[in-house]
Amino acid sequence: MKQAKRLLVTSALPYANGPIHLGHLAGAYLPADIYVRYQRAMKRDVIYICGSDEHGVPITIYAERQGVPPREVVEKYRENHRKSFAEFGMSFDNYSGTSKPLHHEISQGFFLKLHEKGYLSEKKVVQFYCTHCDRFLADRYVEGECPNCHAEGARGDQCDSCGRSLDQIQLINPYCVTCGNKPEIRETHHWFINLKKFQPKIKAWLDTKTHWKDNVKNFCYGWMESGLEDRAVTRDLKWGVPVPLKGYENKVLYVWFDAPIGYISSTVEWAEKIGQPDKWREYWQDEDTRLIHFIGKDNIVFHAIIWPLILMGHGEYVLPADIPANEFLNLEGNKLSTSKNYAVWLDEYLQKFPPDPLRYCLAVNAPETKDSDFLWKDFQARNNNELADILGNFVNRTLTFINKNFDRKIPAPGPLDDLDKEMLSRLKQAPEKIGNNLEAFQVRKAAAEFMDLARFANKYFNDQEPWITKKADITKCATTMNICARVCKGLAILMQPILPFSADKLWSILNIEGSVLDQTWSDAGQAHFDDGHSIGKLEILFNKIEDDVIEAEIEKLQKISEKQSDKQGEDTQVTNEKISFEEFQKIDLRLAKVLEAEKVEKTDKLMKLKIQVGSETRQIVAGIAQQYTPEQLVGKSIIVVANLEPAKIRGIESNGMLLAARSADQDDLALLTVEKDFESGIRIS
Ligand code: 2FM
Ligand code: ZN
Repeated sequence: MKQAKRLLVTSALPYANGPIHLGHLAGAYLPADIYVRYQRAMKRDVIYICGSDEHGVPITIYAERQGVPPREVVEKYRENHRKSFAEFGMSFDNYSGTSKPLHHEISQGFFLKLHEKGYLSEKKVVQFYCTHCDRFLADRYVEGECPNCHAEGARGDQCDSCGRSLDQIQLINPYCVTCGNKPEIRETHHWFINLKKFQPKIKAWLDTKTHWKDNVKNFCYGWMESGLEDRAVTRDLKWGVPVPLKGYENKVLYVWFDAPIGYISSTVEWAEKIGQPDKWREYWQDEDTRLIHFIGKDNIVFHAIIWPLILMGHGEYVLPADIPANEFLNLEGNKLSTSKNYAVWLDEYLQKFPPDPLRYCLAVNAPETKDSDFLWKDFQARNNNELADILGNFVNRTLTFINKNFDRKIPAPGPLDDLDKEMLSRLKQAPEKIGNNLEAFQVRKAAAEFMDLARFANKYFNDQEPWITKKADITKCATTMNICARVCKGLAILMQPILPFSADKLWSILNIEGSVLDQTWSDAGQAHFDDGHSIGKLEILFNKIEDDVIEAEIEKLQKISEKQSDKQGEDTQVTNEKISFEEFQKIDLRLAKVLEAEKVEKTDKLMKLKIQVGSETRQIVAGIAQQYTPEQLVGKSIIVVANLEPAKIRGIESNGMLLAARSADQDDLALLTVEKDFESGIRIS
């Protein structure tokens, strides 16, 4: 691929309603930082932009629960993110926030431009309205039973259990998350982005992205297969970017409309800060820019479909050149969960451990092509056996030897033997090898390649036996130590993207002028010292981590997951809330016979059933397709709630509900039936 003149790299803007955890780092942040640090060492024109995502319902719900204004929450977490990212070595050129006036102004400009150019249409919609709270319940303000998998607590925009995005009106037994009341349905109006109309344009553009990661392409094509639906880009909320149109005074832009524009406003802020207010245009409006968005896989649709359409619609901006989305990081075999506090929080980690071992461990285990797992034991082993015993040990033994035997001065080399040549040749090739991996966003391979160089260097030291040659052949010994010192210098340059703090430390131990950050990547391959260069004070690069420290961390997580399973266990406890016999009698339970069964297309769990209830045939929809095939169902006797209000599930009428038992882990399911072959329609009491 032709090298672009400049690179504009972004990491997904994290929501400012909680601290950063390891899952965030592994997906959207660390790989980007490593990539950018490498590009800077390649002397490319690159800027790295981020900031916090400060609108949206998760933020306002959190603020309401804390009893504070949203602004207080977002400013607190913007600072928390900024601080822990800096301590972790994230080298953003700018870190902004989307609730700043500059961002509002730029986002409104985008909205108006798209409005003017026919990318938006106004539509009447029905939505839930809470008469108690006196407001429309946007997105997560309403919860209920998922119409698809029937999990409780599905949110207005998405069900976390089955991962489907939902239209809130489909929720079964909806309730307002603030007051618990049942909302009513009211009409409102919103602006929609015309995804349907522009699908061919998006598709044609995506078709040119043959070099993108498979996970990103597959996701996009999968999403387009069933046809894109227009998406509302405004909301009935108070917190957000006000919609800049008359008649829309009480509405704001949808958070996912304004958030990616945050990449632009943060760049504009950066340009102002450096005193070149127009400089942002080079990065966003000159064709010769490569725009790269680092994200987690949950953000693919927004970055690869909706955001490019917003940019196309505006017409004056470059489009994403690459979107290296990563998969998820699990923790000790379980899903990370912010709400369950099952996570390793960056600010807490940094109070106990240095940043570099985590950077290395996450780089080696980066979830590039599939989900990966963070294990504390693996973290300890990577630190103790690789960083300390391989890399740290090589540097330490080299410099200790020079201190002791060459009076702290790096000796001049003599003639080279084959092993010396092999070591130097590996050093020479390393920048390109590691660099090629980084160019292809393969951080795992780059980290492994780097450690292999240190591993080979250790072996070289062993094989040359300088402790023997120092007596038998001092020139040979000097050659070995000269080469080892050069390798240390090369390693310092090559480790800078992944291990910036240790690279800096090594640079000052080696007593080299300037900063390791100013070095050129390819120079690592030909690292050398002036004759008689004196090295500085020796320090240990990586301390070992003891078992008890790691065990305490594992125990902490185990306690959290035990608490969770206790909570799940509570479901098996009989409820204390009593109902009267009359209340029970209101539920008309009937025996029914399944006449026909058919899986609902484009769903994983839904089955459409035709059932016989006495003389009546009815249609019901049930979330049982993962446990039963249509063949297993036809002819079966089941029990249904016959007088449940009819509901539409995925647009299909469901007239009744069947009864089933779910296993404790919610994965398995068994239909309720009766022991004898009774006729359908009889009452169950
Ligand atoms: O998923 C998230 O954390 C979002 N806040 C990411 C936004 S990325 C960008 F569009 F701002
Ligand atoms: Zn309410």
